Amino acid sequence: MNRPKVIVSRKWPEEVEGRMQELFDVQLNKTDTPLTAVQMQAALQGADAFCPTVSDNVSAEVLSVDNLHARIIGSYGVGFNHIDLEAAKSRGLVVTNTPQVLTDCTADLAMTLLLMTARRAGEGERHVRNKEWRGWRPTHMMGAKVTGKTLGLIGMGRIARAMAQRAFHGFGMKIIFTDPYPPPDEVVNALQAQARASIDEVLQEADFVSLHCPGGKETWHLLNAERLALMKPGAFLINSARGDVIDQAALIEALDQGVIAGAGLDVYEGEPAVPEQLLSMQNVVLLPHLGSASRETRVAMGMRVVDNLQAFFKGEAPRDRVA
Ligand code: DGY
Repeated sequence: MNRPKVIVSRKWPEEVEGRMQELFDVQLNKTDTPLTAVQMQAALQGADAFCPTVSDNVSAEVLSVDNLHARIIGSYGVGFNHIDLEAAKSRGLVVTNTPQVLTDCTADLAMTLLLMTARRAGEGERHVRNKEWRGWRPTHMMGAKVTGKTLGLIGMGRIARAMAQRAFHGFGMKIIFTDPYPPPDEVVNALQAQARASIDEVLQEADFVSLHCPGGKETWHLLNAERLALMKPGAFLINSARGDVIDQAALIEALDQGVIAGAGLDVYEGEPAVPEQLLSMQNVVLLPHLGSASRETRVAMGMRVVDNLQAFFKGEAPRDRVA
C-alpha cells in the first residue's frame, strides 16, 4: 500500500522526523526556512497531510487553494488561532493540535517569567554581565516578594491549573481566577482557589496576573488600556498565551507611566517583531516564545502529531481533532 504523503512546514526534533520517515512518505524541512503562502498551498495540493506549526499563518486565502488534495492538517502546537478553522472545515479538512503534552513546561515557563519579573532577574543578569555590579548593599535591586501574594489567572484551563499548582504548593500564593468554563470543584478546592465573576475583579485584586486564554478574535486585546488601569500599581502581568490578547501599545504606555510595575512576556503582537520600547524597558522580561521549548516536550508534541496522523489514515478518529 502507498504510504500517505506528508509535508512538514518546519524542522522538527530528530526523533520525530525519524518516526515520520518510518511511517510516511514525508517531506521534511531540513533548512527550517518558513514556508510562504504559495508553498503552503503547494503542500495542500501535493500531500495527503500538511503539518504546519503555530507560526505558520494558514489563512482562509491559503486554504482557498484550487485542486486541494490534503485531507488533514496535523498542526504542531496546542494553539490553533493560526489556522482559519471555518475555512478548513468548509474545505472538508480535519484539523488536529497537540494538547496536554506541553502543559507542565508552559506552566514552568509562566512561573519563570513571574519570578524573573518580580525579582528583577533579567535586569540583574544584565547588570552582572555588563560588569556594573559594585557589591552587596541593602538597597540594591530590590524587587517584589512572591511568596504569599495573590496570583490572578485569566482562563483556568490545563496550563493555568498547572501554574496554580506551582504557585500554591511552591510559593504559598492565593489563587483567584475567572473562566467562563470553570474547572470541576475538586480541582478548585485542591488549590483553595477562588473564582471571580469577571476579569475586572481579578485584575483589581491580583498582585500577579497571568493570561491563559486562547488567541483569536474573541480574546483580541482583552487586556486593553482600560483593563490595565484596573490593575494594582505594584502588580505584574505575565503572558505566555498569545501576544494579541494584550493591546501591546497600551501595555507599553502602562509600563512607561507606572500604571503597573512590570511584565513578563513570552509572546508578542506581530511576533517575532518586538517593539523598541519594550526592548529598552528594564521592568519587563522578554522571552522568545519558549513556553513548550524543552527537548522532552517538543518530542512529545511531534509524536502527538504522528499519533493523530496514524489514526486518521487508519480511518479512526484522531484524538486531538479541533475541526
Ligand atoms: C503552542 O503550542 O500553541 C505554543 O504557543 C507553542 O508551544
